[in-house]
Amino acid sequence: MPDWRIVYEEWTPELQPLREALCTLGNGYFATRGAFEEASADESIHYPGTYLAGGYNRLITEIAGKLIENEDLVNWPNWLPLSFRHPGEEWFDLKRVEVISFRLELDMQQGLLIRQLQFRDGKERESTLHSRRLVSMANKHVAAIEWELTPLNWSGEVEISTALDGQVVNSGVGRYRALNGKHLQALAQGQHNNETIYLEVATVQSRLLMAQAARTRVFMGPAAPPLERQLLEEAGYVEQRIKVNCLEGQTVHVEKVVQLHTSRDQAITEPLQEARKNIDRQGSFVHLLERHNGAWQRLWNRCDLTLDCNVKAQSVLRLHIFHLLQTVSANTVGMDVGVPARGLHGEAYRGHIFWDELFIFPFLNLRLPELTRELLFYRYRRLPEARYAATQAGYRGAMFPWQSGSNGREESQVIHLNPESGRWLPDNTYLQRHISAAIAYNVWQYFQANEDMAFMTFMGGELIFDIALFWSTIAVFNPERGRFEIHNVVGPDEYHTDYPDSGQPGLNNNAYTNIMAVWVIQTALKLIDILDDSRVEELHLKLGITEQDLKRWRDISEAMYVPFIGDSKIISQFEGYEQLQEFPWEVYKAKHGESMRLDRILESEGDNVNKYKASKQADVLMLFYLFSSEELIQIFKMLNYDFKPESIPENIEYYENRTSHGSTLSKIVHSWVLARSDRKRAWNNFKVALMSDVEDVQGGTTPEGIHLGAMAGTVDLVQRGFTGLEIRDNVLWLNPVLPEEICFLNFKIRYRSHWVSLEVTQEKMKITFDRGWSNEVLIGVRGEVYTFQRGEQREFNIIR
Ligand code: BGC
Repeated sequence: MPDWRIVYEEWTPELQPLREALCTLGNGYFATRGAFEEASADESIHYPGTYLAGGYNRLITEIAGKLIENEDLVNWPNWLPLSFRHPGEEWFDLKRVEVISFRLELDMQQGLLIRQLQFRDGKERESTLHSRRLVSMANKHVAAIEWELTPLNWSGEVEISTALDGQVVNSGVGRYRALNGKHLQALAQGQHNNETIYLEVATVQSRLLMAQAARTRVFMGPAAPPLERQLLEEAGYVEQRIKVNCLEGQTVHVEKVVQLHTSRDQAITEPLQEARKNIDRQGSFVHLLERHNGAWQRLWNRCDLTLDCNVKAQSVLRLHIFHLLQTVSANTVGMDVGVPARGLHGEAYRGHIFWDELFIFPFLNLRLPELTRELLFYRYRRLPEARYAATQAGYRGAMFPWQSGSNGREESQVIHLNPESGRWLPDNTYLQRHISAAIAYNVWQYFQANEDMAFMTFMGGELIFDIALFWSTIAVFNPERGRFEIHNVVGPDEYHTDYPDSGQPGLNNNAYTNIMAVWVIQTALKLIDILDDSRVEELHLKLGITEQDLKRWRDISEAMYVPFIGDSKIISQFEGYEQLQEFPWEVYKAKHGESMRLDRILESEGDNVNKYKASKQADVLMLFYLFSSEELIQIFKMLNYDFKPESIPENIEYYENRTSHGSTLSKIVHSWVLARSDRKRAWNNFKVALMSDVEDVQGGTTPEGIHLGAMAGTVDLVQRGFTGLEIRDNVLWLNPVLPEEICFLNFKIRYRSHWVSLEVTQEKMKITFDRGWSNEVLIGVRGEVYTFQRGEQREFNIIR
């Protein structure tokens, strides 16, 4: 795995689903899995999926006598099909030939997927087949394949097939296969001109249109001789077959360029007309590649991060940045989308948007802040739906859905299949109300990094006030305790959704939720002083926030209840947690390995994970991840709890011993919270998080889509965690503690309209203050604050 490339040198069919997810190419507008051109979806090896940012559709299925509606990120027509056959024989299939050599390479610097094959068929004919593929970062509507077939010991006619296949369904995730997956209906297909075919489809419920036009050119040497083409079409499918006379040693060079438009596009008349018009304007593969490379180069200039001493970590971090930028990029602007937790790389979680943005935005805030702003608009536009949800539940303000898709309604499934037991079970994870706090936190973090007053004044402020209003109305006063409480919620740890034998979903006083609620309310109160008075007045009028509400906000921010375990300083994950049984970890780890989905395993054994002190992922520890100890102690102080920084390690230890890391997000948090106190353990957790997708550590989840939260989270761990980067009181604080395994770290961040370059070693840190708009910025290094002027460079000794 050299720095910029992921290379597979062997054809291993059982690893193909994982490779297809990891070799996905995309541009923030659409993405296509790294399936082979000649492959169509089958049960276990190939799954060529194409997904559009924001391309959702709803379908109803009858399950166990109930009608269930699910909203999916639709698998759109497959534009890849390109294959060949000898007359009267079967189409080329890797399974039917003897593979002499195989190489699949993802070139992240250029944004290319390259395959090089040499094979021998049953008639002893030897050939090479080389292909290069791109999904253009420069023109989001374009993708292209260069495909070269060279006969090594034979001559003769072959038939080349090039197609657009809209007969696909959503079937990429085994446990969803019982659900209706036929989202598309055929609208039109045919031939645009001799070398171009087209296809138009619509989603059956959301009525989105997608049109694709594919131009296929065949060259023998530099010439493109006139060739006989046969058109085949049926509803939702169009194909051209081209007869070519091959000569031993002479390469047949094919270029397939695809133009893709949808009814979600801006500045168009109608998708099919745009696709037909624009395909005629596209140049050759090499020309497209040149522009595509330029776009990637610009992105890497902003977003790369270099590490010395650790080539593997370097490549994997680049892979993570690469997939993040393929999911959201400048091409996403104007699309009204959020960041799907599993990227545009597969169908797990149906392309829904969760709280994972909390782990993703910090990277974007410091590199492509324009993009975070855009992604926050997705939430802003869905405020009416969040307000309606709050009202329906008996609250005021904005209650955002745990899983969000097209219009911001709750998309969490009502029942889900436990593949371990084969049973459909109620899914109560929708009670994760903490999602609304994550949105407010994201608004605040974006604002901290960019001081974007216009955004805060018009959108950010409204989000924060309305979310604060929600928290203040879901909180209830308990006169016995003299404190406010929050009932019937689920925390980030999804294993605990109810009290055993309670018969009711939800838990009381999840510590993370309660503290986040307080933080949102305190931030909303702070915002009153930051925004101008007239705007505050306008917003409060609009949202119906009264003086009485503000009084309640102040009361809650001083009297929210936080549970502790007995008389200890261990924050209790939720009220009643201490009464749960200890879990026999060793027994289960020996049987199932380190990372386990205990909820599924125990249910299949007739047991219930709710009974045990066993967490799926970091819950209480999220607090030490999101807040510096100074900030957290401040919150506790306001709440009149005596919680000191010295108690943090005890809390970490306690929950480390009771967490199964059934979510890839968990190791990020565990690494982060240990980064300062225990570098070795932090690094060990970091390593697992880093390998989450490349090695599919959860065993089979990555083929269904990458884990973008963990991907972005690992990059952010290096960027902020290991450098101690924090923005507090208008100062950019740095306090690096590099793990021993990293000897040199170099990257650039965008901070309040400036580019700041950081070079960190085990001993020193160099800060170079680059071009920018304003003149000076305050940077704090280990307690001292310095004013940096444009062009200034300073070096600091950081040995402890
Ligand atoms: C995790 C959630 C996460 C979701 C999507 C779940 O397994 O428990 O925290 O938001 O996956 O990534």
